[in-house]
Formats: sequence, C-alpha cells, structure tokens
Amino acid sequence: MNIKELKNIKNDTLVENLTGWVDTIRDHGGLTFIDLRDYESFIQLIIDKKLIDELKIKNEFYISVTGIFKNRDENLINKKQEFGTYEIHVKEINIINKSKNLPFQIEDGIETDESIRLKYRYLDLRRNEMKQNILARSKVFKSIRNVMNNLNILEIDTPTLIKSTPEGAKDFLVPSRKNPGTFYALPQSPQMYKQLFMMSGFPNYYQIAKCYRDEDSRKDRQPEFTQLDLEFSNSNPKIVKEKLEIIVQHIFAEAFDLKINIPFKSLSFTEAINLYGTDKPDLRITETINDATDIFINTSITFVKDSINNSGVFKYLFTKNILSRKEIDELEIQSKELGSNGLGWIKSENNELTGPLVKFLNEQESSFIKSFGKGTFLFQVGNLNDISKTMDFLRTTLFSKTEQNEHIFLWIEDFPYFEIDNGILQPSHHPFTSPNNIHEFENNPLEALALHYDLVLNGVELGSGSQRINNPDLQTLVLKKWGLSEDEIQNRFGWFIEALSYGTPEHAGFAIGIDRLVAEVMRQPSIRDVIPFPKTQSGMDPLTDAPTKLDKELLKEYNIKVIEDNEQ
Ligand code: AMO
Repeated sequence: MNIKELKNIKNDTLVENLTGWVDTIRDHGGLTFIDLRDYESFIQLIIDKKLIDELKIKNEFYISVTGIFKNRDENLINKKQEFGTYEIHVKEINIINKSKNLPFQIEDGIETDESIRLKYRYLDLRRNEMKQNILARSKVFKSIRNVMNNLNILEIDTPTLIKSTPEGAKDFLVPSRKNPGTFYALPQSPQMYKQLFMMSGFPNYYQIAKCYRDEDSRKDRQPEFTQLDLEFSNSNPKIVKEKLEIIVQHIFAEAFDLKINIPFKSLSFTEAINLYGTDKPDLRITETINDATDIFINTSITFVKDSINNSGVFKYLFTKNILSRKEIDELEIQSKELGSNGLGWIKSENNELTGPLVKFLNEQESSFIKSFGKGTFLFQVGNLNDISKTMDFLRTTLFSKTEQNEHIFLWIEDFPYFEIDNGILQPSHHPFTSPNNIHEFENNPLEALALHYDLVLNGVELGSGSQRINNPDLQTLVLKKWGLSEDEIQNRFGWFIEALSYGTPEHAGFAIGIDRLVAEVMRQPSIRDVIPFPKTQSGMDPLTDAPTKLDKELLKEYNIKVIEDNEQ
C-alpha cells in the first residue's frame, strides 16, 4: 500500500506492506526514526534500532513495512508533512531492494554538478523540486489535450523519418540501411506535414510534437524539444491569435491554477526594437529605451556626430542611481562583448554634470540631461540593429522587474521577411510564411514584412507562427528570393510545391515551445530542468553516453565510412 491510502485508517490499526524509500534515518537511544517517502508523501516510522542494524538499512533502500498506525504525541507533530500527525510503530521490515551509496542526496537545493545529476537522472527525478517540474509538464500535456478536445481540434501525428524541413538549424540525419547512401532527416518541426493536412482537407490539427535541431544547446535550447504544434484551415493571423489566447489561458488555469488576462498586448517588431532593443522584451521591466537623436543632431561629440550623419540613432537610458566608475566599467565590458564600441555615460548630481564627455556638450544637450535630475545617463549611438543588443542588456541590467510573479504575454508582429544571420540571408521565420504584401516582396524582398507573429512571455520567445503561402507560384518566388536555384527548389521543395497546386485553402498556424512554457512558469533557470532526460550543453546524454561511436562492421551495414581526424 502507499502512504496516501493511510488517510482513512484509524489510530492503533495494523498497517500491512506499506512501501517506500528510506528518506532519512535518525537514532534516538534504542529507537530509530525513519522518514519513509513515496511518490506523494512522507510518514515517520519508529523501529527498534536492533532491527535496523541487523538489516543494515541505509538511505534509499526500498522497503515494505508492517506495523501499528498511531497518532503522534502532540509535541511531536510535524506540521510540514501531510501525515506529520501520525507514525507507524514497525513490527516487520522487508527489504524489497537495497541501494548503493548515493552520488548525491535526494533533497532540494543540492549543489551537485549538473553532469552528475544527469548521469543519475533517475535519482535526480526522485528529488521533490525535480518531481514538481515533471509533474507540471505532465499537467500541461493533460490541459492541452483537454482544451483541444473542448475546441474540437484534431490530434494527428506526423512522421519523424522525413525529408528535411528548414527551420534555420542543421538537421539530425538518419542513414537508410535499405537505400545505401541516402538519409532521412528528423523533423525540425512538423511544419510541412501540418500544412499537408490542410491541403488534405482537415479543418485543423494539433500535435504534441518532438522536434530535433542540431544546434548549440543553451538555457532555452535543446537539440530535442517539444512543441504544441497547431494549424488551422481557412484561417488568418487574427483567428490563430484569438484561438491561441484561449488555449494559453486554459493551460495556465488548468495546469498551474493561474489566471491570465486576454487579449494579449501586441507590438510591431520595429516598435519592440525601438522601445526594448529586442523582439522578446520582458515587460515586467517597465522602463523603455528612449531616443534623443534630435537633441544631439548638432553635437560636438565627434563619434556621435559622425554616427548621426551616417543615419545612426542616439538611444539612451537614465537611471536614478549614480553609478560608480567600477559599475560603469563593468557595463562597458559587457556592452563591448555584445558588439558595442563603448559606453557613453554622463552623471548628473546637484545640477552638475560629470564624465569625460561633459566638456563637449552644448547648452541644449546639458540641460536635456540635467532635466532628469540626479542619476546616470547612458547612451549608445549607431545603427539601430547594431546597438539594440546593448540597449536591451542595459535596460534589463539597470532596471528591475516591478512584479516578479506576473506573467506578461506579448504578441510581436510585422517582422521583416528576411534577416541576415551570421552573414547569411534567412527567412526570419521559415520560407512557408506569406509575405505581408506580395508586390512589395517581389520588388524589394529585403525590406518586405512577413505575416509572422511571435508570442513572448516575460522576455522568453514562447512560440511562433505565420500565415502560410497557399499558392505554388508565390512559394516558388519566395524560395527564389531566398537565393535558391531552380534545381535546388525542385530537389528540396518540388514535392511540396506540387502539393500546393491542387486547391489549397488559406491556412495559418503556430507552435508553442512546451519546455520553455513549463520552465518559465516553474521559474527554472533552464529548460533542462523541466525535461526529464535532457542533453548537456554539448549535446551529450551523460546517463547513456549517447551519442556513441559505432563499430566498423555495423557502419558497413549502413554503408557509412567515418572520416577519421587524420584523413581530413
Ligand atoms: P519556431 O522555430 O519559431 O517555429 O519554433 C517554435 C517554438 O519552439 C520553441 N523552440 C525550442 N525550444 C527548445 N529548444 C529549441 N532548440 C527550440 N527551438 C524552438 C520555441 C519557439 O518559439 N514550424 C514553426 C511554427 C509555425 O510556423 O507554426 C516553428 O517551429 O518556444
């Protein structure tokens, strides 16, 4: 029996075969006190010390006990435990399974290296804080299925051995033994398949989908992650966003008992970059970035003048704190790591300005800075794209969150269709996204906007979606403007363009990162903490040692020859 089942048992009753793990052992004279732990609860056992010594019972042994269920004396009640008013006077213990010495304690707040925790993840998941994360994840899955059923959205699955779907990352590849020299890709998302469902005539679709992207892991990125993936036929961004708000509101209420207000706020990409320096602003910080290009237009500060003459913008933040030289130096070091040339600063106190730039300020500039009162004026000047990362960093470092526990959602819209990522032109979403204005896209694709919308929660990009292209000619045009040759378009996407050519309804959709959602609500530092078996930063699984080398014989079966370092 488990501990919860003791709920209806009366004082002085014999309890048989209660099972659980030995959580803590304490000796008091001839008696030993054990906290027995199971999936849901704890209960105190009182045992003759001799019995414990005989059986050599240690932490994490899995045991079954028989004994008398008793009310504890008033002064021994443990109010923190659900069963803290009871104890069991044990008559008999049966060891179901012993435990080796533990690599770390099964308790909250341990400081053990993460790689050790991942190597023994099954023990790590016994710890209450990790268990709560996994339970939260499970509740999210359940609430998704409930709300989808309520909304009559169809759960349909898609294959995982596929031809590549571009989402901006590298694919994980799977060799085909039966077709020598050929490879499947694991889906970066079910994007093209969910669109095919719309072409097949289904009104809508959802899936709790595993996605695979061979990219560097970070606190919010894993090579393998889980999406709530959705698509709606005869749809558009307005309809999708309204549905999403209802879905997210339901998930928060059912899984976390949290009330969130809808509709969510929304900002255009350009507004977000101007006000927050990022397309995923944390609105719990209310300060916004300000523009003083007009004020500094006739400046004598040479680098500012040069930049503004070169279509640069002047962005500033003002903190009421007088920052020390050390604090400013630290901010500058980090700004430079984000690509800044340096940090402009001026301190203002008692109507006096100080700092190396003060001697260059004209009357208008000085009185502008003085008008804020006592504090530090920090600025960046340059191309908005180049300085926005630094401004985002300064805003989030200098100002604190007004409300830690709030969940502030925000739609970001009107993204540029293309972006330059590491010098490479990429669709800012994916190439199945409809341009906002086809004519504009055709003539000036680099300036054109996309019908792409992101959902941001407390500074985290929670999800993305778009209006899809439903016309084969437009799909071909977009792939061409992306820079693909006719041959590449045919080889990679010919089948999809063909599928679009048989009467495709308008359709639009979205995907929410479930790992990010759970991590954010559970206030976890990384999505690794809410994924049962995540990979390390380098994509390894310390538990199984995957990925592993294969021996030559096996590789031969797959027609694969591995290039050794010395052959490269
Ligand atoms: P996108 O690539 O923006 O869109 O992904 C949608 C959401 O999935 C989550 N996500 C990740 N989570 C953890 N680790 C990762 N490596 C990772 N990559 C993405 C994020 C992100 O917002 N097919 C489109 C959706 C659509 O257009 O319908 C897509 O996958 O929360």
